[in-house]
Amino acid sequence: MTFWATVAIASLASTVAASPLVSHLDAGSLFGRTSCGTSTPLSCHNTTKQTNLCCFESPGGSILQTQFWDTSPSTGPSNSWTIHGLWPDHCDNSFSENCDPSRDYSSITNILQNAGATDILSYMQTYWKNDPDDGSDEEFWEHEWSTHGTCYSTLQPSCISGGVQGQDAVYFFTRVVNTFKTLNTYNFLSSEGIAPSSSTTHTLSSLQSALKSAYGFTPALTCDGSDLNQISYYFNLQGSLIDGTLVPYNAPSGSSDCPSSGIKYLPKSGSGGGSPTSTGGGSIPTGGSGSLPSKGTIQSSTGTGCLLSLATWSTQTCATFTYSGSASGFTMTSSKGECGVLSGALTCGSGVSSSTFTAVTSGGQLLLAYQGSTSFSANAVPSGETQETVFTGTSHSQKLSFVL
Ligand SMILES: *[C@@H]1O[C@H](CO)[C@@H](O)[C@H](O)[C@H]1NC(C)=O
Repeated sequence: MTFWATVAIASLASTVAASPLVSHLDAGSLFGRTSCGTSTPLSCHNTTKQTNLCCFESPGGSILQTQFWDTSPSTGPSNSWTIHGLWPDHCDNSFSENCDPSRDYSSITNILQNAGATDILSYMQTYWKNDPDDGSDEEFWEHEWSTHGTCYSTLQPSCISGGVQGQDAVYFFTRVVNTFKTLNTYNFLSSEGIAPSSSTTHTLSSLQSALKSAYGFTPALTCDGSDLNQISYYFNLQGSLIDGTLVPYNAPSGSSDCPSSGIKYLPKSGSGGGSPTSTGGGSIPTGGSGSLPSKGTIQSSTGTGCLLSLATWSTQTCATFTYSGSASGFTMTSSKGECGVLSGALTCGSGVSSSTFTAVTSGGQLLLAYQGSTSFSANAVPSGETQETVFTGTSHSQKLSFVL
C-alpha cells in the first residue's frame, strides 16, 4: 500500500508514463490510452540506448506466448491448447525472473474481479489451467505474474499513474488472454490436417512447417519425451505491453526441444467443448452419465445438510438450483444468481460467472463434479445457523461429495 502511494507521488513528479490517472482498478477503458505512440523502436531492434522504458520493453524485449498441450492429466478443453504465460525474455534469449517481490499479489482472482474484468477471468478459468497435481489455477496465475509479469519494464508502477495496486496485473492478464486468443494452435494444426492421435507420429520439421503455413511464423515446440506438450510464439513489442503492438518473428534456431521424429500429438481425455474463439465457451466434459433433472436441491453425501442459495453448506432449508445443460456439462443457478467456482470455492451470486459442472453416477447416485472431480471439502460440519464455504478438492478438513 505505502509502496504504491510512494510510487504514485514519484510518478506525478516525473510523468514518464502516459496513462491517465486511475483511482480504481480498471478492466479496459484505459486500453489504447498510453501516449507511447509508434515512434519508439521495436524492442530488441533499437540502435541507441532507450531511456523511457515505459514505452520501450527492456531488457525483456523478446516476448514468448507459451501454451501447453496437457494430456497427462488432461487439462482444459480437448480441442484447445491452454495458456502457460507471456514471458519477457531478453534479446539474447536469457531471462530475468521474480523481478519485484513487493508486487507478488495474493489473489489475481480478486484483482480481476475488482477491476470488473470478469470476462478475462472466466476465460482464464477455462483456458489457463494448472496441472491439478501442482495446485489451483489461481496459484498458477500468481506464479506467472510474480515470476514473469513483474519483469515487464512497461508495466512498472511508475509507468501507471494513479498508483492503484494491481492495475499492472490487470493489464498483464488482459494482454495475455487477448494474445492467446489470436494463437489458436489447435486450429492451426487441424487446418493442416494434423489432429491429436494416439498412434500417428510426426517429424519436428513437418509440425513446424504446418504451423508456419497456417500462422506465418515458426514457433518453438517442446516435448515431454516424444509427446508434444508445449509451444512458444515469439514477438517483439513496439510501445507498451498495455497497448503496444506485438510483432511476430520466427523462433530462434535451436529453441525447440523435441526429437526430430517420432513425435506424438496425443488426444486429451475426459473433456471437450469450447474453442478459444467462442465467447464464454466453457469446457463441456464428456463421460458423465445419468440424466440430469432440470432443478433440485444439492444434498451432502454425509447426510448432514445441503447447499443454500449462496452455495454454502448448511443444515438450514435447502435451496433449489436450476440446471441448464446435460450431465456431461451444465451450468446452474440459484435464487442469488449464477453459480461458479471462484478462488476454489463454490459460490452463486449476481456477479458470478458460471462454471461448467458435470454430473457423475456413483453408487446409484448422481454426484456433482467440477473438472471431473466429485471431491469437495469445508473447514467444519455446519450445525444450527452456521454456513460453511464449500471448496473444490480435498484440501479442507471435512471432505464430502454432493448428491444432485
Ligand atoms: C537498447 O536500449 C536498451 C535500454 O536502454 C539498452 O540497454 C541497449 O543497450 C540498447 N541497445 C542498443 C544497441 O543501443
